[in-house]
Amino acid sequence: MSGFKERIFSGAQPTGNLHLGNYLGAIKRWVELQDDHECIYCVVDMHALTISPDPAELAQATRELTAAYLAAGIDPKKNMVFNQSRVIQHAELAWVFNCIARIGWMSRMTQFKDKAGKDRENASLGLFAYPSLMAADILLYRATHVPVGDDQKQHLELTRDIAQKFNNDYSARIADLGIGVEMAVGDETVTGYFPLTEPMISGPAMRIMSLRDGTKKMSKSDPSDLSRINLIDDAETITRKIRKAKTDADAIPSELDGLAGRAEADNLIGIYAALSGISKEAVLRDFGGKQFSEFKSSLADLAVAQMSPITQEMRKLIADPAYIDSVLKDGGERAGVIAEQTMKDVRNIIGWLQN
Ligand code: TYM
Repeated sequence: MSGFKERIFSGAQPTGNLHLGNYLGAIKRWVELQDDHECIYCVVDMHALTISPDPAELAQATRELTAAYLAAGIDPKKNMVFNQSRVIQHAELAWVFNCIARIGWMSRMTQFKDKAGKDRENASLGLFAYPSLMAADILLYRATHVPVGDDQKQHLELTRDIAQKFNNDYSARIADLGIGVEMAVGDETVTGYFPLTEPMISGPAMRIMSLRDGTKKMSKSDPSDLSRINLIDDAETITRKIRKAKTDADAIPSELDGLAGRAEADNLIGIYAALSGISKEAVLRDFGGKQFSEFKSSLADLAVAQMSPITQEMRKLIADPAYIDSVLKDGGERAGVIAEQTMKDVRNIIGWLQN
């Protein structure tokens, strides 16, 4: 049991090419969670700076991603929806965490290694420190749960390590100030200021793969547009991409075992399951024994039926930037109140004079 108030935080980067993996792995689940949780959904424009986008493109992508959140069904009144840079305490807490996290921990991050590639010396310090800012995003709101795709797992483990080290390093001070909260760590009950946040990574959508290569994840940066379904694709494009998706020559199996070693087949079944909200087993019960050509046309119909209303609503919202900006401003103001409460405590804990 944890004494922390249950709170959800998640975010996505406004870097263009928002795709079905982002939607099924994250945004669709955020919509489901909003009914019975307090949720904070952020457009992480400070993280996007690590790939140095053009300023006009960054602003546009920030509005487009916000439009996608809203079009998918996130209610901006019920939840807090805002762009990260508006709540500057994210940067302040990230600095504190830069002094908590160890270079060894950061060096193990596979996403940094992938993104920096061979020319590591030339990567920005921001790209290296990225996971520390991500920990700050989450812990600024003392969020207890974070729904994300599987690719963010390592970053969430690091977030827990940072929270734990902060709680340990400052345990005496936290106790003196009387602002610790009890939580269970294994069999023990400990007191700390930050929760050990739980990742929410599960279901058939946690890792949607490329439509061209079932061993690579569906990604914004894949040079082939055929590898992903973009949230902005029209019905005809979605249908064409699904028809061209790589598969094998065998029929669809009736049981999960039959998908072993068939990465592309497994991926398409997973996409169908995630879109329709049923298990992969249930999809196989319906389609077992059929050919992929037949399955693909059902999948295309399903994808178009689900995605088209979202795409249309997104286009409508993008045409009204003043509304989007007002949503971000309002969400930012509400998030800012929580953020400042946390930072007041943190400044006090670490010994920064405030008055
Ligand atoms: P980003 O912008 O790369 O992706 C947004 C969300 O989409 C999920 N996702 C996928 N899920 C399933 N299959 C895929 N192929 C796929 N591709 C992407 C991601 O897992 C993510 O949940 N670092 C984060 C953004 C971030 C964040 C945070 C997230 C910054 N601070 C705090 C949670 C909490 C990122 O780059 O996501």
